[in-house]
Amino acid sequence: MTTTSGKGPAPAGSGSAAPVGETIDGADEAVGGAAVGGDGSGPPPGERTDGDTHPHTAVGPTVVDPAAPGHKPEERLRTGTVMLGQIQRRVSVELDGREVRVPEGTTILGALHDEGTPQQADTPTLCWAPNMDPINACRVCVVEVEGSRTLVPSCARKCEDGMKVRTDTEKVRHSRRMVLELLTSSVDMDRASGDVQRWIGEYGVDTSRYGPPAAPAAAGERDRRHPGHHHLPDGATAATVAQPVKVDNELYVRDYSRCIMCYKCVNACGTDAQFTFAIAAAGRGFDARIATEFDTPLPDSACVYCGNCIGVCPTGALISREEYELREAGDWHPEDETVTTTICSFCGVGCNLELHVQQNRIVNVSSPSDHSVTHGHLCIKGRFGFQHVQNL
Ligand code: SF4
Ligand code: SF4
Ligand code: FES
Repeated sequence: MTTTSGKGPAPAGSGSAAPVGETIDGADEAVGGAAVGGDGSGPPPGERTDGDTHPHTAVGPTVVDPAAPGHKPEERLRTGTVMLGQIQRRVSVELDGREVRVPEGTTILGALHDEGTPQQADTPTLCWAPNMDPINACRVCVVEVEGSRTLVPSCARKCEDGMKVRTDTEKVRHSRRMVLELLTSSVDMDRASGDVQRWIGEYGVDTSRYGPPAAPAAAGERDRRHPGHHHLPDGATAATVAQPVKVDNELYVRDYSRCIMCYKCVNACGTDAQFTFAIAAAGRGFDARIATEFDTPLPDSACVYCGNCIGVCPTGALISREEYELREAGDWHPEDETVTTTICSFCGVGCNLELHVQQNRIVNVSSPSDHSVTHGHLCIKGRFGFQHVQNL
């Protein structure tokens, strides 16, 4: 029996249906009761076989072994995989004085999203994404937890029974403002999402006190900096990561003047989706940057151009070449953009595609982060192979 996490597209040609006895993305299937594999016989979804008529909430997969003692051979064959769900403990947490109960293992951010007030649910995030494991890099989501010496990142810290969380104290607001202010003073945040722009305003970010931005680095200059060889700040200008855009291939560009070092692209390229590991963080401190191995151009690197890094980048540091060219030509019209969801036709995996169309032209392709096949991630064909549609 094989269980796949469902993260990332399966390889082309791997087929779209799970073999009998194989479990895919169990949590979704388990909700509502029994899912039956094999020949389709057995109880319909939601119907229990133990005579108990009380409703139950299934929250995860439990695979009943058809070969277990007590099953007749013909039953073993017929029964196949039965998803009954798991019993999950709940813990009590206090959110700004109000007690809520959440499933054990929920992060504080998850509790704020699921059980919090609209204001609590609006906790700022930069390195967190619903389709990725917590990265814990930006610290803009911090909250106070009673008994904890330091602020804790809500996106990564799990709720514990009896935990008391404060989300809107002076300490929390000050810390979030400093994170947003230091990033905004050194990185071009113009293309971050509307939410990020709103948080910058709401937290009172003021970059003027750091002085005007320092001069941008020359092409490749930041890539050649060595760990431990930091320059003293001149005290008159704000340090910046500004540098020329890297355009070295036909499919996407890297504009690291917009990079906040959230590591999302690294994890999407690595263990969160693609397992290619073409990029990683190089350097230390303010000289840290996202780099290919030995800073080689992308075509010489291990990159397979799935574009999943583009899909998760929160600041527009990574964008498709199509978008880059249109922006450069002054032909970028987000106000006209429509998004149409369809299914990729290149192979049988069945990835959902969102076609971003401006002025009757596909300008980008993404995938919904909550789609059970893709989890927001695609392969090179789904992400970039749309030119043939344009030529029809
Ligand atoms: S390139 Fe984008 S996704 Fe990658 S670390 Fe920078 S901001 Fe994050
Ligand atoms: S994006 Fe398209 S080609 Fe790539 S795995 Fe998904 S369905 Fe197949
Ligand atoms: S969003 Fe929590 S540390 Fe970045």
